[in-house]
Amino acid sequence: MADTEILFRPFDLGPLHLPNRIVMAPMTRSFSPGGIVNEDVAAYYRRRAEGGVGLIISEGTGVARPASLNDPAVPRFWGEAELAGWKRVIDEVHAAGGLMAPQLWHVGSARNPMTDWKAPGPIDSPSGLSSPGKRFTEPMTEAAIADTIAAFAQAAADAQRLGFDAVELHGAHGYLIDQFFWSGTNERSDGWGGATLPERSRFAVEILKAVRAAVGPDYPVIIRLSQWKQQDFTARLANTPDEMAAWLEPMADAGADVFHCSQRRFWEPEFEGSELNFAGWARKLTGKPTITVGSVGLSGEFVAAFRGEGSEPASLDGLIERFERDEFDLVAVGRALLKDPDWVAKIRDGRSSELQAFTREALGTLY
Ligand SMILES: Cc1cc2nc3c(=O)[nH]c(=O)nc-3n(C[C@H](O)[C@H](O)[C@H](O)COP(=O)(O)O)c2cc1C
Repeated sequence: MADTEILFRPFDLGPLHLPNRIVMAPMTRSFSPGGIVNEDVAAYYRRRAEGGVGLIISEGTGVARPASLNDPAVPRFWGEAELAGWKRVIDEVHAAGGLMAPQLWHVGSARNPMTDWKAPGPIDSPSGLSSPGKRFTEPMTEAAIADTIAAFAQAAADAQRLGFDAVELHGAHGYLIDQFFWSGTNERSDGWGGATLPERSRFAVEILKAVRAAVGPDYPVIIRLSQWKQQDFTARLANTPDEMAAWLEPMADAGADVFHCSQRRFWEPEFEGSELNFAGWARKLTGKPTITVGSVGLSGEFVAAFRGEGSEPASLDGLIERFERDEFDLVAVGRALLKDPDWVAKIRDGRSSELQAFTREALGTLY
């Protein structure tokens, strides 16, 4: 394997001094019955801090809307007991020398195939569609949109107050914010929709402005984005660099400090004629720091893993080449870190024979 030293160069993200370039990707674990993180979850994150992760991003955690989550064992980020649980998490991560951001989440109309649990309130979505052409409920009202924006801002303020080092907004994978971006799920003709991506981005922009106003100028705000949707892996929001610039620049202006660019395979080029991936283009177009992600250190991608396909450890050479070309700033690692809290240390120390395979069974344990 190539020399991994470049992954261990520090990086300053505004006021945050990251000791290396490795971020733990947000991963839903559904180990928080009743929506409250417990000591097992806190210890799981603490182990990643002890293992040397540069910045931990939490599993998606719901903002204060009745139907922000579609699984009763996913933690909420509102309410006294819920926030007390998260305080324990950040205190343990800090005690182990780590840094952490919660990923603030609203699932919108996305269904959860793993449970038939129903959220206690109306489903929020731009046009009442679960996927293109499938209308099952009413579009969000102006009041619901305003309340949702306020809920993201409140969650960000709470994250800062509890001591978290940054926040990430989940704007990817076909969940609520992405449902506004995507013409397949946003058919609105009012100020929250329209024929163009910048028009459909207003919801994200207003959330970012509200979050920025809530946390002040220096607090790092990350937004996670993807072209692909769980409803359609081939979907794309931006088909050219110009369309991508018109999508991302208003979000940078509204307060996004970092773009977390979700791909299932980080090495796939974003547009014809260039090797740059999504994070590479986002950085080139906005000048903001970016995080890449997708099958780092593993042979197969994560959606196939949910279906039961195993992955073997894979070389980091392609990733390191891109770091050497200075394509992006940080890399998020999902399953490899889900399985092994010591993955970063093993990479740093060249202990490649100790790297582990990933199988679906790993989803059932908090290693
Ligand atoms: C079990 C599991 C849960 C996930 N939950 C989330 C989530 O809550 N939010 C999110 O943005 N991405 C989520 N993802 C996607 C990961 O953040 C990451 O983008 C994906 O796993 C690709 O990285 P990897 O190939 O290193 O695993 C999840 C992935 C896995 C495997």
